[in-house]
Amino acid sequence: MAGHQLVHDIKSRAADIADRDGFLFAAARMIQSFFPRYNWVGFYFLVDGKLHIGPYVGNPTPHTVIEPNKGVCGAAVSEGRTIVVDDVNADPRYLACSLETRSEIVIPIKVKGKIIGELDIDSDHQAAFGPNDRIILEEISGIIGEFLERLD
Ligand code: SME
Repeated sequence: MAGHQLVHDIKSRAADIADRDGFLFAAARMIQSFFPRYNWVGFYFLVDGKLHIGPYVGNPTPHTVIEPNKGVCGAAVSEGRTIVVDDVNADPRYLACSLETRSEIVIPIKVKGKIIGELDIDSDHQAAFGPNDRIILEEISGIIGEFLERLD
């Protein structure tokens, strides 16, 4: 399956590194270079009930802190599930980061069964996230959760 190598590479990187942000940044970079149609790849983490931006690759976003009832990012943590938006311009929840963005996926990250943050990816292509993307990215989000649990 496309993406199997990426999952394997991120798993080995997680085993090699103990620096939280160093690993998260490396994972974001690896995901972005494996899938060039992903234009922004990054993390948000819950701190005092709000989503705070973590390491990312892509253009800076004005949304560095997001309320859990705002945006596609807020919806993923409040509903506790992956959200795929094929056309961001047709989704009233969407908070714009770049005018070029056309689609988005947000996958919750869990530590000990509890959502602690999320992996957020934007693409300049409409409907860039199909079933295979989702499977790979949910697997990666699981690896990231296990990595963070080890650091706890
Ligand atoms: N689009 C997100 C905001 C985060 S930026 O895209 C990086 C949202 O609607 O929550």
